[in-house]
Amino acid sequence: MSSPDIEAIERILVVGAGTMGRQIAMSAALAGYTATVQDINADMLAAAGADLGTWAATRVGKGKLDSDAASQALSRLSYTTNLQEAAGSADFVIEAATERLDIKKEIFATLGSYTPAHAVLASNSSTLGSSKVAEASGRAEQVCNMHFFNPALVMKCVEVVRHDLTSDATVAVTLELARRLGKQPVLINHEIPGFVANRLMGAIQREALALADAGAATIEDIDTTARTALGHPMGPFELMDLVGLDVITFIAEATYAETSDPADAPHPRVQALEATGRLGRKSGSGFYDYGQGGH
Ligand code: CAA
Repeated sequence: MSSPDIEAIERILVVGAGTMGRQIAMSAALAGYTATVQDINADMLAAAGADLGTWAATRVGKGKLDSDAASQALSRLSYTTNLQEAAGSADFVIEAATERLDIKKEIFATLGSYTPAHAVLASNSSTLGSSKVAEASGRAEQVCNMHFFNPALVMKCVEVVRHDLTSDATVAVTLELARRLGKQPVLINHEIPGFVANRLMGAIQREALALADAGAATIEDIDTTARTALGHPMGPFELMDLVGLDVITFIAEATYAETSDPADAPHPRVQALEATGRLGRKSGSGFYDYGQGGH
């Protein structure tokens, strides 16, 4: 096994073409890396390609991205359903697949078998600490979490979370890669449910839901207060709709399973909306209605 080296990173593999994976891959392509997006679902790959093409065209149209830079970045992206083949040439992997441990373990086992020995294997998961998949990879010291935020092309923060066996070299390379993607990484010294950002977000959301339950103010006014009194870019209900109410419930369930703290359990109001298919922006409605197109 050879040590990870930032200068040796040319090809980045992103596993999972969902909301996060596709934007992480585009961030890498914009930073000059060759990026492959792998997903088992070919339709998802096609949707990701179309979505990033539209995103790039919009930014060129707004004058925020040079058209040559956009087409070069798009040409550095490729899409595949074949994980083994894609793994074979990856110098750094960011796994952003479905949040299921059995699936992730399988992915990390494949990555451990097929990626070059120097490759770092990072997980974008916010709920599954990388220690849970480290052993399956056969190279625990080169595994960590590299947690991006939604929308990944915009949000600066990347949480780099080490587990007990993560090597200093892996941490250093992951932090530096995040910087080279134009991000501002923060280091989380050990695995803690929710890491730092989701714990802060959860605290604000819990308080916002308690205020709404108590009839203290409408959700609109609670959101307005967060924006205009505290300077948050979005209120807590708007943010839950952006993240997705299914994701919010999933994070709460995963956190509660680890902490057993009733304060971390999913909130009935969020669960009730989710049960009726109101998942937030992506379904066209959540706490708010967005109309067709989900925006
Ligand atoms: N994808 C890509 N780019 C997007 C985007 C998206 N979904 N939504 C907005 N943008 C871009 C726009 O193109 C625009 O770019 P330019 O300024 O360069 O033109 C920029 O973001 C600002 O967008 P808007 O002017 O349309 O709207 P805004 O100023 O209200 O910003 C926002 C939108 C960036 C989402 C902002 O409201 C914000 O920062 N909200 C908070 C988001 C947040 O907290 N995310 C973390 C969620 S928690 C998480 O992800 C962790 C987890 O594990 C669940």
